[in-house]
Amino acid sequence: MTVTIVGSQLGDEGKGGVVDIYGDAVDVVARYQGGDNAGHTVVHDGTKYKLSLVPSGAIRGKVGVLGNGCVVNPETLFDEIDTLRERGLDPDVRVAERAHVILPYHRALDGIEEDEKADLAAGTTKRGIGPTYEDKAGRRGVRIGDLLEPDVLRERLEYVVPQKKALAEEVFGKETGEEFDVEHLFETYREYGERLAEEGMTVDCGTYLQERIDAGDNVMLEGAQGTSIDIDHGIYPYVTSSNPTAGGASVGSGLGPTVVGQGDVIGIVKAYLSRVGTGPLPTELGGVDGQTPDYDATTGAGGDAEELATYIRDEGGEYGTVTGRPRRVGWLDMPMLRHAARANGFTGLAINHIDVLAGLEEVKVGHSYRLDGEETLTMPPTTEAWGRCEATLKTFEGWSDVDWTAVAAEGYDAIPEAARTYLEYIADELETPIYAVGVGPGREETVIVEDPYE
Ligand code: IMP
Repeated sequence: MTVTIVGSQLGDEGKGGVVDIYGDAVDVVARYQGGDNAGHTVVHDGTKYKLSLVPSGAIRGKVGVLGNGCVVNPETLFDEIDTLRERGLDPDVRVAERAHVILPYHRALDGIEEDEKADLAAGTTKRGIGPTYEDKAGRRGVRIGDLLEPDVLRERLEYVVPQKKALAEEVFGKETGEEFDVEHLFETYREYGERLAEEGMTVDCGTYLQERIDAGDNVMLEGAQGTSIDIDHGIYPYVTSSNPTAGGASVGSGLGPTVVGQGDVIGIVKAYLSRVGTGPLPTELGGVDGQTPDYDATTGAGGDAEELATYIRDEGGEYGTVTGRPRRVGWLDMPMLRHAARANGFTGLAINHIDVLAGLEEVKVGHSYRLDGEETLTMPPTTEAWGRCEATLKTFEGWSDVDWTAVAAEGYDAIPEAARTYLEYIADELETPIYAVGVGPGREETVIVEDPYE
């Protein structure tokens, strides 16, 4: 039995919290794409843990797997594991031998290319994610399994590193250091390989997961980032380099699509929008650092929008977990969600952060877009067209702040009526039932309507 958790917007929808609430029944949590660009904060026994690679379930005694669709920076992996051990935890983390390795030159090139791209820059986390997936597709990547075989590792590095060095020095005119030095890389990454082997961390991911399922265990497949920054279904080129969408759960874990499709696919929705990184955002409110985007007055942009954006940003703690950058915020975007519901085939929704909007007199939603004079209900396929979309807003009555912990304990009907109207509008539009509603950041602050493992 699998349950797949997918971000339906731009990442940071609160997937970790949902993994957590359904986590008690879960034995194995596997990530299927992305790398250490996926910041998540987990609170366990009163201690806060900031992780960017290790699946949050590993803190709670579950096996955490990094699937073959992930890109793994061994330095981050071991730093996170060592920090958890220093704090008295003993995380059980497995890594797919087919997963690709992020090497120091990938990180260096990520930074160099972002600077070079100027207006086309995606605002990446500069963790080397894109350059590593590029090398995967270019068949010049280094995989986790290669770290276990020194001869293979050396052969791969000897082929690829001179190319990367030439790219940095001759194309981009940069000075290079040990991150482009074959001997240094070979020694460092061979040692990582030895540690992976000593600790018995590497797995044939699909086989491992299937065996656990056959033995009756529950597996959760956890997507990182979100549908609108998916490399195929997102707002290219302002996207990440992998597939957060549900199809990625199969390809990136080694489980067949029919296995994944037998279980639920839960879309995680934030009750408003937030994003780090660049690109258009039709329902954006205000801007960060005075960069107010030029919206149609009907969207409410202007001084008030700026204030509203700051309010939501601060109430929702909308600052990047990995980078600390203030996130851009906007109203919920229904065309974006309709696109996500179709691309992922959601069977349930978890809608988060309705408490963040509490206290606003009115809550707006981008119900549809006007694109080149036509009304449209879904996202256009090109980002340029998306940039021309003007959101047609629908206004909902706001709801007041209440004791959300008490609401979570009492259940769905205890949610303020105006908030329920908002939630039910979303569920109706997406023709998908609500499984959970997040009413606060804590573990206890979620209203559970449906448990996919029951
Ligand atoms: P990259 O994944 O670091 O290559 O960044 C590509 C784009 O994805 C940028 O716009 C990032 O800000 C965005 N991004 C990457 N990881 C996350 C995440 O975990 N949450 C939200 N946005 C992300």
